[in-house]
Amino acid sequence: MTHPNFISISEAMKKSHGKVAVRGWIYRERGSNKMKFLVIRDSSDIIQCVLNREKFEKQWDDIDKLQVEASVELEGEIKEDKRAPTGYEISVDKIEIIGLSDSFPINKDLNEELLGDRRHLWLRSRKMTSILKIRSTVMQSFRDYFREKGFYEFQSPIIIPGGAEEGPTMFELDYFGKKMYLAQTWQLYAEAAMYGLEKIYGIGPTFRAEKSKTSRHLTEFWMAEMEVAWADLDEILNYAEEMTKYILKKVLEKNKKELEILERDVKKLEPSLKKKFPRVTYGEALKTLKEKKKMSVVWGKDLRTVEEEKFMELYDTPVFVTHYPKEAMAFYKPKDPKNPKTALCFDMLGPEGNGELIGGSERDTNLEELKKALKEKGEKLEDYSYYFDIHSYGAVPHAGFGLGPERLIKWICGLDTVKDAIGFPRTMTRMKP
Ligand code: 4AD
Ligand code: MG
Repeated sequence: MTHPNFISISEAMKKSHGKVAVRGWIYRERGSNKMKFLVIRDSSDIIQCVLNREKFEKQWDDIDKLQVEASVELEGEIKEDKRAPTGYEISVDKIEIIGLSDSFPINKDLNEELLGDRRHLWLRSRKMTSILKIRSTVMQSFRDYFREKGFYEFQSPIIIPGGAEEGPTMFELDYFGKKMYLAQTWQLYAEAAMYGLEKIYGIGPTFRAEKSKTSRHLTEFWMAEMEVAWADLDEILNYAEEMTKYILKKVLEKNKKELEILERDVKKLEPSLKKKFPRVTYGEALKTLKEKKKMSVVWGKDLRTVEEEKFMELYDTPVFVTHYPKEAMAFYKPKDPKNPKTALCFDMLGPEGNGELIGGSERDTNLEELKKALKEKGEKLEDYSYYFDIHSYGAVPHAGFGLGPERLIKWICGLDTVKDAIGFPRTMTRMKP
């Protein structure tokens, strides 16, 4: 072709009439020996294209053999057509076949396992591209929100010498003959950087050797975290709520079409934009579970998935559960001086059975308390010497949290599993492709 000005399919539909040139991949094809209908997709949308044999006598054999996912460049006349899948049709004048396709090994009958095996091809589906566009909005909005609030972006190491959330769930690494680990959180390094930058956020890959095969656990996921000097629990709850609303609003503005493709009932998301998220203590949550759901939980244990789910049936927005039992919490979550059995921490639980989306807390700067908590958890104090150092020179109150974007995306998109909220999921049983 003589260098036509290619535009995206959605731009072509906006133009709505006249000559257009588009390029993309065959999404569907059907035809007779007189006509060929090709639905073409690009990253923006799909459009029906019709080719009349009369115009393509010389190329007809090749056109006739085109299979799903072959790539093509097309020029023709676009017009509205109510019968076409997206309401427009291009009557094609010129076609150039760019890349042929074998018989595409994905069809409606594949189960989740087979789709997982063919993930590298399944990523082209309308479902996956819609989710990945929403994921892109989520990541960008997280960054934008904290930028607007005057935060700096900070990156922490992924290869670490040990010492993090919970020892047993770390992946070990042979590092030139020495044992190292893959990071489970940005936090401990972020606290060091916080003393210089005060307000920071970061998004990075996170690794946990989780044996749980649930719809909410990956072994490699991304964590979006923030840490802020001088802040207390209330302040970070405010950040978490405002940030969640900010991200949700951006997705609802920018990704209407994608949510429609995913058949997400967006009415279920609207209360979370408008209402204040309830804040209840762990103790109050146990009482509510007993009174309204006939569920008894022994005080002192973290909430299990079933308990979170039952509890969240009572709400249509995320809920902050605060003040969990100190002994069940990570070592850095400080005691509440008003109720030393509890810690100054929170989880933000998602509605519609989505469980914990965010975890956060104030940070203990009392070295004796930190050492005591670590010893109780069977950790080696020498692994944490740098962490004690951080808080030995002008310690200040500070707090932060970590959001699991995959879990947030699962909720926003109404997905069955976090595996679909990331391009190439990693779980205990899913390592390829
Ligand atoms: O609650 P977590 O373990 O918190 C931390 O790691 C803190 N150091 C964060 C901080 O304060 N900076 O994890 C934070 C969030 C969870 O709420 C959850 O959304 C997500 O990370 N998450 C997972 N997502 C997918 N798969 C897993 N295995 C996850 N584990 C945690
Ligand atoms: Mg947590």
